[in-house]
Amino acid sequence: MHHTFFALCALILIAPIIAVTARQDPPGQESFTGRWVVRADNGDGTFRETVYALEQRATTLTGRILNPTNEQPIVEGTASTDTATFAVVTGRAPNERRTTYSITRSETSLTITITRPGQTAPQTLTASRGSATAGDAPARVEPPALHRVPDNGLARTPPMGWNSWNHFRGRFDAATVRAIADAMVSSGMKAVGYTYVNIDDTWEAGRDASGRILTNRKFPDMKALADYVHGKGLKLGIYSSPGHLTCAGYEGSYNHEAQDARTYAEWGIDYLKYDWCGAGRIYKDEEMQAVYQKMGDALQASGRPIVYSLCQYGRNDVWAWGPQVGGNLWRTTGDIGDSWESMTRIGFGQDPLAPHAAPGHWNDPDMLEIGNGGMTHAEYRVHMSLWALLAAPLLAGNDLRSMSPETVAILTNRDVIAVDQDPLGRQGHRVRADGDLEVWDKPLASGGHALGLFNRGRTPARIAVRWSELGLPGAHAVRDLWAGRDLGKIETEYAADVEPHGVVLVRIDR
Ligand code: GLA
Repeated sequence: MHHTFFALCALILIAPIIAVTARQDPPGQESFTGRWVVRADNGDGTFRETVYALEQRATTLTGRILNPTNEQPIVEGTASTDTATFAVVTGRAPNERRTTYSITRSETSLTITITRPGQTAPQTLTASRGSATAGDAPARVEPPALHRVPDNGLARTPPMGWNSWNHFRGRFDAATVRAIADAMVSSGMKAVGYTYVNIDDTWEAGRDASGRILTNRKFPDMKALADYVHGKGLKLGIYSSPGHLTCAGYEGSYNHEAQDARTYAEWGIDYLKYDWCGAGRIYKDEEMQAVYQKMGDALQASGRPIVYSLCQYGRNDVWAWGPQVGGNLWRTTGDIGDSWESMTRIGFGQDPLAPHAAPGHWNDPDMLEIGNGGMTHAEYRVHMSLWALLAAPLLAGNDLRSMSPETVAILTNRDVIAVDQDPLGRQGHRVRADGDLEVWDKPLASGGHALGLFNRGRTPARIAVRWSELGLPGAHAVRDLWAGRDLGKIETEYAADVEPHGVVLVRIDR
């Protein structure tokens, strides 16, 4: 009797809860509401995840796409029982770009058809239900208080070497890196100063139970690879991010900075490129200095000399604080592409940053595209000349195993490399621009100067430089660095015919 009474009371009390739960469950399960995970196979034992965080109310669909490095709000979302559409808009009017999504839903998965601007063939992906937190950035760890990281004594001249990204993206492995090291020696590049063989993004896997970073299938033994590269008299570089995920969606160093620096030291790593990307989902741009300082400290504490390369696309005036976090170089722009437009936009845009370069810490206008095929030989000579005048890091970004003689000649010109590597460490600056014709000057340790006479136009042009406009009166010995010819002492001014999209690079000495 009592029991029945209590059972009845209990039922009365919990019935509304059951009813509410029951009412909520079916729509939650049946609608688009929830987190949907697309897992793309990277082909190296790792996966890149994109999460669609959606919410359906009647026929309205809202939500975000959670990418490794950013979140995109969806707009104009509509949904019925089993179909939905929405768009993602990037950029600002009038240059905004719309990507449209159309989705069909089965009980456990979504089929997502994506139409990107300018792409005729849509892409189709499958997403399955994920947990309520799938795709979330990890909890924020407060960045450290600012202090000055001591100079590591490295990179007294701009670093020289090779990096995998521009040519290979993710399609390379340890065997490729060994062959690149071999080619760096056999091509003569090592003999003229190229030293660092740098692995960019996509070597990482997850972490083991102790939090130690793991390498994926492409890099079965990082220490053995470092030993091999060292055996050639070269050095090995690696890549990571202060975020939880790198730009390509691989494991970053977030919350594992000291541990990763120790692992790099154990492997024998000599250079780290540290790429903001995923950190942008955790920190603000104003916090970059503290975040980069953390890894700067960690590298120093590792006890191994490791060149520290900051990659945050020139945001938040990195040149003003790069040296204080122990940085040896910092990217000044977004990514370079293998085109005349990209290379010249970046290269000729570096003039205001000249005061910030000095031995030990350099402006980095990004890696070289020489030999990748998107420019002519004349244009690649402009690339090499400009980077040398800028005292920029010279990191070849091509496939060193299969270079044309012209590519080798451009990359290994000793006179041009000497301009880049000049021990004074001054970054060149623009003397003058007359439309498409520019003159750049880099003071050298010897008291001489390197001068670039650039023709950015489409027709041949004659460019003249008067010694007086450089503040260098008297006669000067002139050497044409691409022709490899001494032109003798020249009074008053030097004039040269410069081919379209071309350069004449000279060194002048008293
Ligand atoms: C960013 C960097 C590139 C390269 C890629 C790798 O885009 O700027 O240089 O490292 O990430 O994912």
